[in-house]
Amino acid sequence: MSRIIRSVLIVFLFFPGALAFAQEAAAPAAPFLRDLAAEHNLLIGTSLQRGGLNNPGVRKTAPREFDSLTIENELKPASVSGGPGSYFYIAPDYMIAWGEEHGMKIRGHTLVWHNSVPSWLKKANLKKDQVLAFLQDYIATVVGRYKGRIYAWDVLNEVLDEKGRLRDGKTSFWAETCGDGYIEEPFRWARAADPKARLFINDYGVAVVNAKSNGLYALVKKLLARQVPIDGVGFQCHVAEKSPPNFKSVAENVRRFIALGLEVQFTELDVRIQGEPTPEQLKHQAEIYAGFFEIAVLTRGVTGVTLWGAADPVSWIPGAYNGFGSALLFDDEYNPKPAYFAVKEALGRGRLKNK
Ligand code: XIL
Repeated sequence: MSRIIRSVLIVFLFFPGALAFAQEAAAPAAPFLRDLAAEHNLLIGTSLQRGGLNNPGVRKTAPREFDSLTIENELKPASVSGGPGSYFYIAPDYMIAWGEEHGMKIRGHTLVWHNSVPSWLKKANLKKDQVLAFLQDYIATVVGRYKGRIYAWDVLNEVLDEKGRLRDGKTSFWAETCGDGYIEEPFRWARAADPKARLFINDYGVAVVNAKSNGLYALVKKLLARQVPIDGVGFQCHVAEKSPPNFKSVAENVRRFIALGLEVQFTELDVRIQGEPTPEQLKHQAEIYAGFFEIAVLTRGVTGVTLWGAADPVSWIPGAYNGFGSALLFDDEYNPKPAYFAVKEALGRGRLKNK
């Protein structure tokens, strides 16, 4: 018997407690992600769906690790608005109260999105002024209801096309009915309804310097010049493990938005893997997560990173990307994956603290 094995056996024979310790070593232990992120003034969040909150694994994992909660679907206009003057608040009320109970800040998602137009509104055949009147009333009502409780709102979501131009009427109800008349006012209405809420424009495919993020940059610069009250830019960051972004480009991109006086958040981070993940893929996934978190802790002005889901069983990925999954930090049993430890390490590096 080798000396090492003999010593291990002796340890467990005389100190049975050591066995329990060894078994627990893989489970997350304090400090948790939220504790470490707080030292960088960085919020670390998860999105959650109302249904996910029935899940004991989610209820345990999410508040332990995350101090920010994005309401994944239940504050989208198609979920909230049942008709003129009719609102569904039961699910978001419950979720927001649950998050608050666990010391989580709440992100509101979202006020204007082409993919979440209330079905009654699509059918109502309204003119531009009527559509905008609805939108103003909707924003005043919903943002007003949660005044002081939702710290940030994604006011506009995905308003740009792949080339970085505003969407046209073919892909967006808002563009179809209002031209580009729906871009500025929602920020003013949201500001009026809750002056302290941070107001974001959010989009996908904009984490690196490319045609789309150039368009976003130009749009945001124009909005600022026109005194539109916008505080931040959200990069969604739904990434495929096979095609990670160039992180030098992400860092450069983040910096140019911050130089405009805005904050930047990675608002919907996940790294999807095709098929049953191999150890190599999980390691690569971990490196990609570390890449985002390194930028977040190193760059003053990056104020939050939100994972799009608390754990693999409640991720939107398998439903949205056929054959993909395993996109988050915790596996099907809510055990931490290599990506969890990589994020922890990136957040734990002392030399980066107090950026
Ligand atoms: C997704 C949710 O995760 C799904 O549950 C839902 O069926 C569709 O929307 N970009 C966004 C998010 O801004 O709102 C989307 O969330 C994911 C892509």
